[in-house]
Amino acid sequence: MNTLSDTDLARRHDAALLIAAQAGDMALSMRPAPGDASITLKGAQDWLTEADGAVERFVAQRLAALFPEDGFHGEETGHARPGARRWVLDPIDGTSNYAHGGTRWCVSLGLIEERTPLLGVIAAPALGETYAACRGRGATLNGAAIRVSATTELARAIVECGWSPRRPSPDYVALCGRVMATGSMVRAGGSGALGLAEVAAGRLDGYVEMHINLWDVAAALAILAEAGAVVSDFMAGEGPSRGEPILAAAPGIVAALRAAAALADLA
Ligand code: IPD
Ligand code: CA
Repeated sequence: MNTLSDTDLARRHDAALLIAAQAGDMALSMRPAPGDASITLKGAQDWLTEADGAVERFVAQRLAALFPEDGFHGEETGHARPGARRWVLDPIDGTSNYAHGGTRWCVSLGLIEERTPLLGVIAAPALGETYAACRGRGATLNGAAIRVSATTELARAIVECGWSPRRPSPDYVALCGRVMATGSMVRAGGSGALGLAEVAAGRLDGYVEMHINLWDVAAALAILAEAGAVVSDFMAGEGPSRGEPILAAAPGIVAALRAAAALADLA
């Protein structure tokens, strides 16, 4: 569903680009130095930095001032403002990389109405890269159009298998093993949003994860759709509320990757 006019959607896209850039600069200025051991753990390998809260407050306030009629859902604060049309924010995705003073992390900001992704911006300031898309207008990386890869063989593909402590490690290792058995190169980059965006840009051929949350994928879903990727129907069932598995890939390998991944609960 999209009840916004083209003008209102474009206004939101422009605002999202600006706010994500400012949020990214804020996060970059707060990034811990490599080797800093003072960062808090929410749980095993689940990192929390001061920047997560600061970035989320900043983005929530800016959006509330510009679009008071829209809802807001952030990773740190939850459903701060309910609404059928809502902004979904991951203030820092790739927190483990960020907490280690690395570069592979991003601010991910999407707009969803009911179950339809309308736009997405993924700003990765330490990489100098911003992915963006608006429904019906294509997907871009730093303003240039992007498209999924033309790969047709898993044996020539790079596939990211996203990892989180929310699923048992032996299941993750088995998933990696099944994907590796196809001849694909397997990697885990620590940011689901950036991994999915790289599928949209043809830098990766596929991305698969056993469980991922809405704030990790909200922006990427709009970008993947506009770039021609085939994506499991994350928004159909419990995805928006409890998270779901996800599989996104170039059309030429999606069937084979889906068979290899063999995730029973994939929509
Ligand atoms: C995590 C990362 C990771 C993905 C997990 C996410 P965080 O988010 O995106 O790559 O595999 O599912 O939870 O903790 O960096 O915000
Ligand atoms: Ca995340």
